[in-house]
Amino acid sequence: KMYCLIMAGGSGTRFWPSSRTAKPKQYLNLFGNESLLQSTVRRFENFMDRQHIYIVSSQSQKKVLEEQTPGIPRRNLIYEPVGKNTLPCIGLAAMFAEKEDPEGVMVVSPSDHLIRNEELFRDTVLAGAKTAREQNGIVTIGITPSYPATGYGYIQVEKEMSGGEKIRQFKVKQFVEKPDLDTAKSYLGQGGFFWNSGLFIFKVSVFLDAVKKFAPSLYHDLKKIQAELGKSSYEQTLDTIYRAVESISVDYGIMEHAQNIFLVEGNFEWNDLGSWESVYLFSEKDKKGNTGVGEATFLDSENSYVFSDDGLVALIGLDDVIVVRDGNATLVCRRDKAEDVKKIVEQLKAER
Ligand code: GDD
Ligand code: MG
Repeated sequence: KMYCLIMAGGSGTRFWPSSRTAKPKQYLNLFGNESLLQSTVRRFENFMDRQHIYIVSSQSQKKVLEEQTPGIPRRNLIYEPVGKNTLPCIGLAAMFAEKEDPEGVMVVSPSDHLIRNEELFRDTVLAGAKTAREQNGIVTIGITPSYPATGYGYIQVEKEMSGGEKIRQFKVKQFVEKPDLDTAKSYLGQGGFFWNSGLFIFKVSVFLDAVKKFAPSLYHDLKKIQAELGKSSYEQTLDTIYRAVESISVDYGIMEHAQNIFLVEGNFEWNDLGSWESVYLFSEKDKKGNTGVGEATFLDSENSYVFSDDGLVALIGLDDVIVVRDGNATLVCRRDKAEDVKKIVEQLKAER
């Protein structure tokens, strides 16, 4: 059987003022009709039973998560007492799954991406699931890199497997999480590297074996939590143990060390939206290059982005700007400075 695990517990600061602790990037309606999380859920609902879709998030996001996922059974929403990054998050869900179906295949997905071409996405995931089962491996979905990004993991592949199929698959040589700029440049020059899309596919037993091998103390802690499942002391045990585990991503904790890794090439349109500028670039624009969400009007203004959760925003004589009005805060920013939004969040924290 196949299960999907959507990770939705991250906290983002680059989408201030819309993203706050209780409502990070994955819950934002960046393109007007649904949030990134909702489009992630829908992407899996296209080919999976809702009963098999699980979402892990942290307790602080419970309200918004429940609001945004009415179609998913409530018992499929798993809450961490606090966020501990992606390795404990996947490990916890894998321990749940192990009790039910250790040989089941789990597709782990981030919730903060924009993906287009959903049929190709489905075919890619299904191809990966087949390989994960046949090879007893951990399968990644790789994206062809287009610039030396330092915010992604890089995957170097060796020989292509079988071949002849529409979707290429490779055995992985090495996985390097978020290299520095010079390293990223050399990878692009060398060729044979993919970006890690953050989607992983594996048999539950295969993943837990890797946790046991590369993160033994986490494995031990997760086993203790698993033993409490269904008991009245479960919540308390989870809280105590989980708060004490090391915070680490699956990329650093497992992927950089494991040997049995495979890569399926993802040819669908993929973007980890990093800033308001990337949202601008991905939105459909009018003739003057303006776009956004909510009510806005433009006079002598071009190539600008306006987001308004409530009320009308008017721009006069301004080009290449981003204006975000959300709740009780407003951002006005040059488009080429959109990355500095995270500095504003730091500045605000320091001032308060
Ligand atoms: N439940 C839960 N708990 N979810 C979490 C937690 C946590 O503590 N931390 C992060 N997540 C969720 C985020 O909401 C996101 O959907 C996903 O896990 C990935 O976390 P990010 O924090 O966004 O990771 P990243 O973007 O820096 O890096 C990862 O993704 C890149 C592709 O976007 C890595 O896997 C990179 O190698 C990869 O290239
Ligand atoms: Mg991300």
